[in-house]
Amino acid sequence: MGLNKVGILTGGGDCPGLNPAIRAAVAYLVRHGIKVIGIHDGWRGLLTEEVTPLGVESVAGIIGQGGTILGTSRTNPLKVEGDLAKVIKSIKAQGLDAIIAIGGDDTLSVAAGLWERGVPVVGVPKTMDNDIEETDYCFGFDTAVTVAVEAVERLRDTARSHRRIMVLEVMGRYTGWVALWTGMASGADWILIPEVPLDLEEMCENLHRIWDKRRYALVVTSEGLDMGKTGGAGAERDAFGHEALQKRGVGQWVADQIHDRTGVETRASVIGHIQRGGAPTTFDRILATRLGIGAAELIRQGRFG
Ligand code: F6P
Repeated sequence: MGLNKVGILTGGGDCPGLNPAIRAAVAYLVRHGIKVIGIHDGWRGLLTEEVTPLGVESVAGIIGQGGTILGTSRTNPLKVEGDLAKVIKSIKAQGLDAIIAIGGDDTLSVAAGLWERGVPVVGVPKTMDNDIEETDYCFGFDTAVTVAVEAVERLRDTARSHRRIMVLEVMGRYTGWVALWTGMASGADWILIPEVPLDLEEMCENLHRIWDKRRYALVVTSEGLDMGKTGGAGAERDAFGHEALQKRGVGQWVADQIHDRTGVETRASVIGHIQRGGAPTTFDRILATRLGIGAAELIRQGRFG
């Protein structure tokens, strides 16, 4: 198949590493005489036909920038009847011979849907959650954990001064990777993840014992922890049906439980989207660059899906 023009998009939550991945794919394709079109704001850009040609100059100097120069959204063309057909029509109208979709589970599920309908697609896995099947690491994760570890270090200083227990809530959706790595790398005293059932008594007994000895303690909790309650049917959800987990208030709830059971002054902090911004770590830059080149190579070889 003669390949002339490839579209590239980033979808879902942004994370550090998207720009290095775009940069690598664009540089590789352009060097091989293939035109690249940047699709704005994930799958939405194909519905609205907002696209921009990308050259080597467009991606110069972005390797160290967080976010995505293409913009992103959680648009789900599988949700609205007729949207997938519109996306396919738009790909044809733009003269795109193939698509590189950089995203997590959601963006890649749309990519899979397109592939099943005959669209040549290559997916690049990314997410700070590190939860994509068949991957050991996703870019964005290392940077997010690095930022969160620094946050715990800062909390340690103030916890020690005030003789408090501090709880840090991190993102990660339904998996505990971010909380586990943050807690392990910062030497937290207790780590709460969705994969392990919460035992409040055990946690509080341990925290009290630690606090008795050194007068402070640190807890890292995942936003997706099972508190025995969810927002239920009324909870705010995105186009892929995911609950806005930050709104569940896990960190504050955990802090209240600790305070009630131990009597020790306890404070909660939510690091939130701070984990998703900033310069990618070296690890994320390299992984993203390798994946960007990998995707472009697969495109050239005609290996899709
Ligand atoms: O999937 C990445 C992620 O940061 C999750 O960890 C978090 O639950 C979610 O996105 C937050 O989404 P939004 O940016 O739409 O608030």
